[in-house]
Amino acid sequence: MTKPILEVNNLKKYFEIKGGVFGKTVAEVKAVDDVSFTVNEGEILGIVGESGCGKSTTGKAILRLLEPTEGEVKFEDQDITKLGPEEMRKLRRHMQIIFQDPYASLNPRHTVEKIVGEPLLVHGMTSAKERKDRVQELLEVVGLRAFHASKYPHQFSGGQRQRIGIARALANNPKLIICDEPVSALDVSVQSQILNLMEDLRQEFNLTYVFIAHDLSVVKHISDRVGVMYLGKMVELADKDEIYENPKHPYTQALLSAVPVADPDAQIDRVILEGDVPSPSNPPSGCPFHTRCPKVMDICKEVKPVFQEDEEQHYVACHLYE
Ligand SMILES: Nc1ncnc2c1ncn2[C@@H]1O[C@H](COP(=O)(O)OP(=O)(O)OP(=O)(O)O)[C@@H](O)[C@H]1O
Ligand code: SF4
Ligand SMILES: [Mg+2]
Repeated sequence: MTKPILEVNNLKKYFEIKGGVFGKTVAEVKAVDDVSFTVNEGEILGIVGESGCGKSTTGKAILRLLEPTEGEVKFEDQDITKLGPEEMRKLRRHMQIIFQDPYASLNPRHTVEKIVGEPLLVHGMTSAKERKDRVQELLEVVGLRAFHASKYPHQFSGGQRQRIGIARALANNPKLIICDEPVSALDVSVQSQILNLMEDLRQEFNLTYVFIAHDLSVVKHISDRVGVMYLGKMVELADKDEIYENPKHPYTQALLSAVPVADPDAQIDRVILEGDVPSPSNPPSGCPFHTRCPKVMDICKEVKPVFQEDEEQHYVACHLYE
């Protein structure tokens, strides 16, 4: 029986927008608005949604790189939102993040040895020799070579840089890695190499991933379950196959119909999403998707649908299923 390593309960992250000469709060961006899910040990949970729907904020709030406004984040049964700075610092070694743009997240003035060795030092590996050996070992693990340790980030390709980012994340044998669009900035040919590497590393080191992506086709290969976010909320969550074969939420259906199909003769009903994502500082009443939903009903404009289990392990927030 697999058990959850991560449990996110009613997580909220609101950003206050200050303005005017007195710096008063003039608006509030509900970037993450009451999101709940669990991630089992060894699992890959994909999280998808359009730009601005709160995926990165969710990832950062889980690691407390952004302080949650409300809600619980349980890592191995411990609510980490209650931990003090020192306890949190110790726990960080078990929870890592990989960013979309490896170039921006690697210090250009540091060698790879310093970049990958830094988390080792932070967590108590004070011997330079030990760090050097460990860095070389990590570089080999991610498909680079020991001699790369003395080079600088600009001397690498995009894919290699992401390998450096992965080596750094792996340095202290983490249990959970939040992967925030780790392949979105890479050429398509390189994307699959990095995805394969990540899949192999998961097996080898018994890792758990939360894998954030724009695109349902990226998470299709790698995920065990997939969650779909819209405007700060989780609107659907189910096993991967279930999401792709039996999508329930009209937003998921629209996202899926935008994914190119291999067979050009395949009959699919294209659902074209009209309009832009509304602003999270002024979200629509009722169902946040009602302004764009092809199946909108009267109730949708007034009553927020509850995120609930419709079939076993298949959660959806939509009045069509209530
Ligand atoms: N520091 C901040 N201050 C104010 N608003 C913010 C801040 N960070 C993010 N936001 C807003 O919160 C919302 C969610 O942003 P977030 O970066 O989490 O989205 P995302 O799903 O990761 O998008 P993308 O796919 O573009 O990376 C957006 O409307 C964004 O503008
Ligand atoms: S609740 Fe209504 S508007 Fe929202 S997704 Fe379901 S049918 Fe569409
Ligand atoms: Mg993002």
